[in-house]
Amino acid sequence: MFGRVPTTRRYLMCAPHYFAVNYAINPWMDPSRPVDRELALAQWSELRDTYRRLGHTVDEIEPQPGLPDMVFAANSGTVVDGRVLGARFRAAERAAEAEHFRRWFLERGYRDITMPTKINEAEGDFAWTGRLLLAGAGFRTDPAAHAEAQEALGVPVVSLTLTDPRYYHLDTALFVLAEATDAAPAQVAYYPDAFSAGSRRVLARLFPDAVLADADDAAVLGLNGVSDGRNVVLPAEATGLADRLARIGYEPVLVGISELRKSGGGPKCCTMELRK
Ligand code: ARG
Repeated sequence: MFGRVPTTRRYLMCAPHYFAVNYAINPWMDPSRPVDRELALAQWSELRDTYRRLGHTVDEIEPQPGLPDMVFAANSGTVVDGRVLGARFRAAERAAEAEHFRRWFLERGYRDITMPTKINEAEGDFAWTGRLLLAGAGFRTDPAAHAEAQEALGVPVVSLTLTDPRYYHLDTALFVLAEATDAAPAQVAYYPDAFSAGSRRVLARLFPDAVLADADDAAVLGLNGVSDGRNVVLPAEATGLADRLARIGYEPVLVGISELRKSGGGPKCCTMELRK
């Protein structure tokens, strides 16, 4: 009926060898609750292997001691058309991650690398639809970083305001199911309650056929999904969203992320897309 067509992706990931929750910079993080690093590594490895099984390429960056959140690679770069916009973290605890990723891009021959002057948590707050870069602000990325992204990447940016502290990054409240093509507009999934009233109207205008997620989907970080246009990698608990996606022709792929969620992260947070 729907014939959803996947496109092959290239991702950058960082193994959680030094993963921990020893500070709290979002409401999910509780340093007094133990995390199982071995399980985190097993879950992360399953995520990486899932991408490879689906035919995607996964590059890895060397994790660094003392940077427990470096596993959330999505926060360290926004890459569109081979152009790289790096990161500038809000929290001092994460600041050093940005330079490790900048060097990774440099060593891999990326020529057009811009480091932001404004707070910019990269794909945590930026989502590429194939035509537009949706940009979140409210908790982490500075709204002024949106204009900076437009200038550096040369793509139109649409600003959206996040209002619920549990959904502190855009990628905890919205993800792109299918990029726009010449034949069809982009399709996204989002949790309306995470956005300001004006941003909800913008989203309704831009994406009239969006999949609207509910509070249960959002509460398990179900909006932190990664789609290749057909296969949609989701946290294992996001079964309601998975069912609704399956009914419109997507192929949900459920993965365990219990340990990474203790830091406020899911599949997308661990996954930076390298768009050529
Ligand atoms: N503990 C990390 C932080 O609060 C989690 C980041 C999750 N990444 C994401 N793209 N939402 O910064």
